[in-house]
Amino acid sequence: MEVKIVENIKEVKCDALIINKFEGKDTSNDLVNKFAPDSFTGKEGQIFVIHTQGQYPAEQIVAIGLGEENKVDNNIIRTNVAKAVKKCADLKLKIVAIDFDTNYNYGAPAVLGAEIANYHFDKYKNKKDNRISELYLSNVDENLVNKAVVIADSMKLTRNLANEPAAFATPTKLSEVAQNIDGIETTIYNQASIEEFGMGAYLAVAKGSAEPPKFIHMKYVPQNPKKRIAIIGKGLCFDSGGLDIKPANSMLTMKDDMSGAACVLGVMKAVAKLKPAVEVHALIAACENMPSGSSYKPGDIVTAMNGKTIEVDNTDAEGRLTLADALCYACKLGVDEVIDIATLTGACMVALGTAASGIMGNNEDFIKEIINTGKNVGEKYWQLPMWQEYRDNMDSDVADMKNTGTRYGGASAAGMFLKEFVTDDVKWAHLDVAGTAFIDKPIKEFCKGATGIGVRTLIKYITK
Ligand code: BES
Ligand code: MN
Ligand code: ZN
Repeated sequence: MEVKIVENIKEVKCDALIINKFEGKDTSNDLVNKFAPDSFTGKEGQIFVIHTQGQYPAEQIVAIGLGEENKVDNNIIRTNVAKAVKKCADLKLKIVAIDFDTNYNYGAPAVLGAEIANYHFDKYKNKKDNRISELYLSNVDENLVNKAVVIADSMKLTRNLANEPAAFATPTKLSEVAQNIDGIETTIYNQASIEEFGMGAYLAVAKGSAEPPKFIHMKYVPQNPKKRIAIIGKGLCFDSGGLDIKPANSMLTMKDDMSGAACVLGVMKAVAKLKPAVEVHALIAACENMPSGSSYKPGDIVTAMNGKTIEVDNTDAEGRLTLADALCYACKLGVDEVIDIATLTGACMVALGTAASGIMGNNEDFIKEIINTGKNVGEKYWQLPMWQEYRDNMDSDVADMKNTGTRYGGASAAGMFLKEFVTDDVKWAHLDVAGTAFIDKPIKEFCKGATGIGVRTLIKYITK
């Protein structure tokens, strides 16, 4: 979708002009005022379409309710523009313009809503879904709109990668995508280097697969950075469960187990373009978790990069093993802050559903800042506890810890496990996006499949 800012939006020849209606206030559009039924009050989410019969350059008017004018915010703009754009796409329209009658600075959230709604993963379909091809705007902040276009583009990359089958989005493929992002310095470490680093936990997971592991380190270094951040994405290109194999139903969507990795790749693409005054490292310990004669086994004892030993209780708790080594590596970089994003536990999905991601960490202010950043961009995070009880369940008789505790409180247990690999001198936050990264039915502006969760929060956090 091409985004164009013009002087006079009312003169744009387009298939549809999207206008707004606030509750308790007339629109500035005569046709809507004349023909809309009384039931079209401007309540949030209402939509009314009218053909202009040649009276306007726009062929149709799509009016959307935005609720009360004084309550409007980015989330309302984004979700309702998305709804209107979906309507236009259903009507097989191509060229759309937006003309909102408000003082609210709606350009950026409107672009995001339109782009998110306009996304479909139809690469493998012979019959493509209809998409809006052009979006016209007027009276909007050009800088903010341009930034929104960059963010939307990153979300597309992230969603595409997570939607791709595992046969396509292999560790090697991820490493190639990383290397092809301009303006970022990327190093790919193969098996031999990963062994040299002493990443025994990550290597154990990777062992059972025919696809070679790739440890991806992307680096963006501006002059005089105000701080240094590492972002880590869980990069399980497929999670079969390993020898503790998953039942068919649970395995079905496990191509999405690299959503965290896809997120940090999207974020780095934006970082390269937005050039924040922050040093950013992106790390992905990419591999597959597969059952085979060379798989790691329940009962194995593996040693992570920081020397801690782990008894493998369940080969399906593999993400935390790969993240353990990535966290050790991140802490050694001497960064101030580390954020990991991972489709880590079914337990988090059970606890929070698709409405929010779990967040944990070692610094309350840091966690709060990320939660607030998320609120601002429409991504919800809910803090889960990090109590010693969860760690006690992971005591092992033969190693420093096991990789699982009990079935209950699984998201917090995973958080406590990860904490063992973070040094106290860095601020660390862990985002569990198991429930939010991939959805099995359309929700608000999102279609089924990958949502690109985390991209907006991390870009906003890094560039603010
Ligand atoms: N990738 C899964 C978690 C997951 C589940 C993500 C559902 C998205 C949707 C993870 O590797 C896993 O298998 N976790 C296990 C851990 C258990 C064995 C302690 C789980 O949550 O069941
Ligand atoms: Mn697993
Ligand atoms: Zn997994």
